[in-house]
Amino acid sequence: MENFTFWNPTILIFGKGQLEQLKTEIPRYGKKVLLVYGGGSIKRSGLYENVTSLLKEIGAEVFELPGVEPNPRITTARKGIEICKKEDIDFLLAVGGGSVIDCTKLIAAGAKYDGDAWDLVMKKALATDALPFGTVLTLAATGSEMNPGSVITNWETNEKYGWGSAVTYPKFSILDPVNTFTVPRNQTIYGIVDMMSHVLEHYFHLEENTPYQDRMCESLLITVMETAPKLLEDLENYDHRATILYGGTMALNGILNMGYRGDWATHNLEHAVSAVYDIPHGGGLAILFPNWMKHNLNVKPERFKQLAERVFGVDADGKSAEELGLEGIQKLREFWNSIGAPARLADYDIDDSKIDLMADRAMANGEFGNFTQLNREDVLAIYRASL
Ligand code: NZQ
Ligand code: ZN
Repeated sequence: MENFTFWNPTILIFGKGQLEQLKTEIPRYGKKVLLVYGGGSIKRSGLYENVTSLLKEIGAEVFELPGVEPNPRITTARKGIEICKKEDIDFLLAVGGGSVIDCTKLIAAGAKYDGDAWDLVMKKALATDALPFGTVLTLAATGSEMNPGSVITNWETNEKYGWGSAVTYPKFSILDPVNTFTVPRNQTIYGIVDMMSHVLEHYFHLEENTPYQDRMCESLLITVMETAPKLLEDLENYDHRATILYGGTMALNGILNMGYRGDWATHNLEHAVSAVYDIPHGGGLAILFPNWMKHNLNVKPERFKQLAERVFGVDADGKSAEELGLEGIQKLREFWNSIGAPARLADYDIDDSKIDLMADRAMANGEFGNFTQLNREDVLAIYRASL
């Protein structure tokens, strides 16, 4: 295990009716609130109405930035930054999924930065200050509600990159499973794939002594896999929504990965695909992850063997680590197929015509991955296997 310091300042407020806590949390930061949300799901579900009436009760002066896109764009973040600077906003409230939260993070930091916010995404400048912000999460997937990460797309240049800093943790996040009841079936599936992929990114590392971390990762994967089919049969089941919502947060809030560095190459591969084709992140991961695994099985077959035996219940009798590992990868593929996740880039009508552009984007910062480093040939091989 490597040395580590764990720090996560986000106050996590979980459960039915917890929206009321906005009345306690927001007044700590001031009166002028910028409400950031997406394409309208919160208006259809009634959440917008509930949030705005609570804001009214505390006497907040509310400004709005609607229309944050899935795979949020730099152009939208710039609009939000302009509002913050012009209106002297005190606090930002993100109400939505990972995209709304990620966009809010860039607005919060961009409002305190003199240059163009794209510099922060491209890491030309580090965000050292940000407006305070909180979130009301409506979709279980990214973990953005309790981590400092943000992923932003520049659609003009087909670039999509992650960034973040110590100042981009939400002050609080309110997670009421009821607010996820209206998430459609496909987005529910993408969220499940995304949180499982976060655990898998952690799981593929080269540290030797991580027994408790391994068991935490395995237990989260097993729990999500047990719950997902039941939830997909009954999308308004509170208990299943709660399990998945909590799982999504725990998968990427820093708790599972203390003392080692996970791989994260598949996320880079996926961001490059959605930078060029604007596909849902979880859909891209479902296609790419099993192919990343097959490509790198030989790096440390024992790791794949452990996953296969402990998470997928593969019978080890008389089989090599490689054979077991491959069976585990197959079981993962079958599980994702069984819940209706996509399996090939062709499912999104993606062929090999822009494969070089995707590889360029994935390779923008050189070779990548911590379990093993991928070069351009590896990247192309994984994309080709995914067509
Ligand atoms: O825009 P609205 O109308 O709100 O609709 C959204 C959107 O169309 C809809 N939705 C959300 N909550 C809903 C709902 N529909 C009905 N009822 C609800 N309760 O779902 C659609 C997708 O929303 P989005 O926020 O894009 O999904 P997700 O949470 O999966 O976020 C994806 C983005 O996060 C990034 C991804 O790359 C992608 O850009 N990621 C962020 C991470 C982070 N910050 O830590 C890590 C992840 O690995 C990921 O890369
Ligand atoms: Zn992800």
